[in-house]
Amino acid sequence: MAAIRWVVLAYIVVIGCATIARGDEQPLSRIAIERATVAAVDSASVKAQPTVLGLKGQSSDWVVVEFSHPKPSNDDWIGVFSPSRFSSEICQPEYYGDLPPYLCTSPIKFQYANFNNADYNRSGKGLLRLQLINQREDFSFALFSGGLSAPKLIAISNKVSFQNPKAPVYPRLAQGKSWNEMTVTWTSGYSIKEAIPFVEWGHKGGNQMLSPAGTLTFSRNSMCGSPARTVGWRDPGYIHTSFLKELWPDSLYTYRLGHRLLDGTHIWSKSYSFRASPYPGQDSVQRVVIFGDMGKAEIDGSDEYGNYEQASLYTTNQLIKELDSIDMVIHIGDLSYANGYLSQWDQFTQQIEPIASTVPYMIGSGNHERDWPGSGSFYGHNDSGGECGVPTQTMFYVPAENRAKLWYSTDYGMFRFCIADTEQDWRPGTEQYKFIEQCLSSVDRSKQPWLIFLAHRVLGYSSASWYEIMMGSYGEPMGRDGLEELWQKYKVDLAVFGHIHSYERTCPIYQNRCVQDGSNLYTGQFNATTHVIVGGGGAMLSPFRATVPYWSFFRDYDFGFSKLTALNHSTLLFEYKKSRDGKVYDHFTISRDYRDIMACSIDNCPRTTLAV
Ligand SMILES: [Fe+2]
Repeated sequence: MAAIRWVVLAYIVVIGCATIARGDEQPLSRIAIERATVAAVDSASVKAQPTVLGLKGQSSDWVVVEFSHPKPSNDDWIGVFSPSRFSSEICQPEYYGDLPPYLCTSPIKFQYANFNNADYNRSGKGLLRLQLINQREDFSFALFSGGLSAPKLIAISNKVSFQNPKAPVYPRLAQGKSWNEMTVTWTSGYSIKEAIPFVEWGHKGGNQMLSPAGTLTFSRNSMCGSPARTVGWRDPGYIHTSFLKELWPDSLYTYRLGHRLLDGTHIWSKSYSFRASPYPGQDSVQRVVIFGDMGKAEIDGSDEYGNYEQASLYTTNQLIKELDSIDMVIHIGDLSYANGYLSQWDQFTQQIEPIASTVPYMIGSGNHERDWPGSGSFYGHNDSGGECGVPTQTMFYVPAENRAKLWYSTDYGMFRFCIADTEQDWRPGTEQYKFIEQCLSSVDRSKQPWLIFLAHRVLGYSSASWYEIMMGSYGEPMGRDGLEELWQKYKVDLAVFGHIHSYERTCPIYQNRCVQDGSNLYTGQFNATTHVIVGGGGAMLSPFRATVPYWSFFRDYDFGFSKLTALNHSTLLFEYKKSRDGKVYDHFTISRDYRDIMACSIDNCPRTTLAV
């Protein structure tokens, strides 16, 4: 039995090292929770203050954690636990017969004891300033020695709690199934037995009305594997969604989240506002930001190693800065990189709150949301850390027929977006392929000239070295099978992908041929689809191949996002901006009238009859 355990541990270590090298692993996965032991030291201490957070109703706050250790070392670290009780007394083993680990849950964040304090190793006295967000439960802080690979629990702090841990938080807007419907989804600690969830909303300055909300949650049993089912599990609370209907195009609305308790009192969030979507085909300036692979990061510097995901804060902050000139955001997969550490979904929704509570925040499904062996995902890897899509499809609304199949279309004024789910089969003959053709073919291009295809993995063209090394290809194997014909037939202006963490733009390309030279200005008839990769949202950058393929027009090894501006029915401006400064580093304009879209190019028109 002991021998088997050692084999298992060795396997974990090997896999752990391999995945760290990939650069898209969750920092919390570095902590060997299963190996934690107790080595309490009476003279060690940890103290956190203040003990009550959010006294002004805010959903994030700061604590000061002071600690001392008689035998300090550079390996010492502080783990933040929530709920505050985290010993094995409160968790069940995954398999009958197993003993639960001493720590039954991962911390929600961690920091080394000597962070910004080189003297700790000598004095044994340290102090950390940490930001906490409201996550429905209380917190405690634990001092460990032994590093992350062999944690020894030395001392535990007092408890800290938000004033109202159950408060409604982190609203995220999403387009509904029709153009004049906005959905708002949020998280709270109130079950439907305790309180009735709703949204109070209306025209800015006008009468406010109430709309009911539906409530969802999910359990540990709906996770597919570890760590989501084991040390990464954390109760997600309750996820509420309300449907705000019959909106007036472009009108400004205000809203706030409410819960009516059984005793008749109300709990309110703060007030937010949004602008309703334009009527499909409406001629007005419309601006949509698209990127992938952002992740989350801690502003207090915790959880950090290398520069992993810190750049997600550049992207988030830049988008907040220019929010006045953004109408919608599409985050095409690899959202939080929670990777089975469920607490991180709260951190992610908190990080994007200023954006997502103001403009629709539409999502796509990525490998880090969905993939798990034997769970029906197209790829049988373990990239979701056992989540197998459940947190994503519960915590974010998308106007899909079935949120477990995360493909859908959404219109925004002169744009039609067809969003595919690369983690499920898209090839000809599948249900998803039928959807893609339906989405592309059903748009009236005289009213909505700008047709955009979106997906997480690169179904088009990428010169990333990852595809070269792993697959010897320029994109997902079978990625273009059948789809390239659809993009050409239905004259898709842009195909936008993530997954590769950098920026790249191709010439207008069809079947490996530049139908037109790459340019900053395309005029006249449609020739072929331009492919763009904008996966530099924040996760560690992906290098390019050494050689630049003939079809690769612009590459940038940096963090950034794209912004599409429909100026009118004839002019689309595409911009690529770096997250670090918000400046434009690549751009192009498509100038095209309806008759140019109708005109034929290669393989995109039916044969006309010769009859007279
Ligand atoms: Fe990905």
